Amino acid sequence: MDFRQKVVYQIYPKSFQDSDGDGIGDMKGVISRLDYLQKLGIDVIWFNPMTLSPQKDNGYDVTDYRAFDPRYGTMEDFELLVKEAKKRNIDIMFDMVFNHTSTTHAWFQKALQGDAKYMNYYIFKEGKAPCIAPNNWESKFGGPAWEYVPSLDKWYLHLFDVSQADLNWANPEVRKECADIVNFWISKGVHGFRFDVINEINKWSFEDDPDNFDGRQFYTDGPKEQEYLRYLNENSFGKDPDHITVGEMSSTTIEKCAGYAGRNSHELDMVFSFHHLKVDYKDGKKWELQPADFMKLKELLLSWQTGMQEKDAWNAVFWNCHDQPRSISRFGDDTKYRKESAKMLAAAIHFLRGTPYVFEGEEIGMTNAGFTSIDQYRDVESTNIYQILKEEGKDEKEILHILNQRSRDNARTPMQWDDSENAGFTTGTPWIEVNRNYKDINVRKDLSDPDSIFAFYQKLIHFRHTMPIIAYGTIRPLLEKDEKVFAYEREYEDHKLAVFCNFFVEETDIQFNTEGYELLIGNYADAEVKDTMHLRPYETLVLYK
Ligand code: GLC
Repeated sequence: MDFRQKVVYQIYPKSFQDSDGDGIGDMKGVISRLDYLQKLGIDVIWFNPMTLSPQKDNGYDVTDYRAFDPRYGTMEDFELLVKEAKKRNIDIMFDMVFNHTSTTHAWFQKALQGDAKYMNYYIFKEGKAPCIAPNNWESKFGGPAWEYVPSLDKWYLHLFDVSQADLNWANPEVRKECADIVNFWISKGVHGFRFDVINEINKWSFEDDPDNFDGRQFYTDGPKEQEYLRYLNENSFGKDPDHITVGEMSSTTIEKCAGYAGRNSHELDMVFSFHHLKVDYKDGKKWELQPADFMKLKELLLSWQTGMQEKDAWNAVFWNCHDQPRSISRFGDDTKYRKESAKMLAAAIHFLRGTPYVFEGEEIGMTNAGFTSIDQYRDVESTNIYQILKEEGKDEKEILHILNQRSRDNARTPMQWDDSENAGFTTGTPWIEVNRNYKDINVRKDLSDPDSIFAFYQKLIHFRHTMPIIAYGTIRPLLEKDEKVFAYEREYEDHKLAVFCNFFVEETDIQFNTEGYELLIGNYADAEVKDTMHLRPYETLVLYK
């Protein structure tokens, strides 16, 4: 099977399954749940970073790229996991954080001591004037993107938290270090790689940003980006075409991504892009709320589909990950129509042209965290933004309401396995609170229901494995002007597949020539295939001929 036929499951290791009662998930815990994942049918597990880290940003702040973080077990535990997964035909994908390291990394520590070799691993610059940063760029987690080091009388760049110093990819030694790290993990049996914010590694100019202050136009999709990706490919994962790779692309374009993930680009297999997950950002601002703009969502999803298709390039398709609130709370209905809307959202994604990613708990319809106090939040972005919004004079209640919708912690609460204390995640105190709805929403419950969300995902995954039209067919948008229904058609040899998804609670009619079609799957028991079809709340219908 190639990556077009596979489905990836994302595990947030901190929150999946704890085996030793310390409240943090670990490898032994994951091993104990591999049978569950095999039952679901997935092919690859992507783990968020599990290398040594002070966990300011939950592992995206790496202290040592080759050391397994003891929080998650030993290197032996990890190697056992790889073996046990392999037995079940599951590959492991690692998360490579190569845009920055933690400031606790030995390279940065040497740089701080003035070691010229290691200073050149990072981006140190002189200030514009005493006490004035080199430029006006802003960190993505709030505040300036530069930090002053008095002993060096220089500033270092950190596009994320102050504890995450950006690496200098212009330095060939840095590129080589990164390729060597990938090779190290390949030698441990890792078969896939996700590259964190990888389109930000080429900082090509350090001027002030005249438009807005964050500076992203000078470091996103830079002119050397493809050269760097090709270097990584040639010197590490590309040596075996079977390795599966995905790049996380921030604020990018279809044109750029078609380059990175084109069939013959020799860079990456596929890309994550996020435009469709910003349709509820008011004026593009994450911390300002507005209802999701459905027409924009449709337009974005479909233009990425057809745009990448035209260039023979490949998308990763997804609603959820560890950085996004739960899709069901965002685009569906997480109370009355939870089951219907979870299935509808799943169908919308799983029949697209691209490799689907399922984030832990999505397959049982887990919802946003429902936190009501800032003390419940753990995420550095959320706690930073809380402070910033407070300083701007926003009311506490309003800030909490915003975090409730937007915080990354909405996705990071522990996996809900059963209705026992802490949802079966840990016997200790979980590092982040379990969602209070775990007695109603949990794996055990779904496994005992043949009509569950889990059972629906199982079917979707099975279809991708067995129906070439899903993996290899072309895609064409349908009902483009419809204001409630997201629809598309796939075609392969003499087969066709038509997917209809009502994104609203309001019912609606659609017209479609159904001659020769039969129902492949839907989320209501008594659906009928007719030229005029009445779609009920969050109804999805998938037709095949
Ligand atoms: C990516 C990760 C996110 C992390 C950031 C900085 O966006 O997905 O979790 O905070 O990069 O590494």
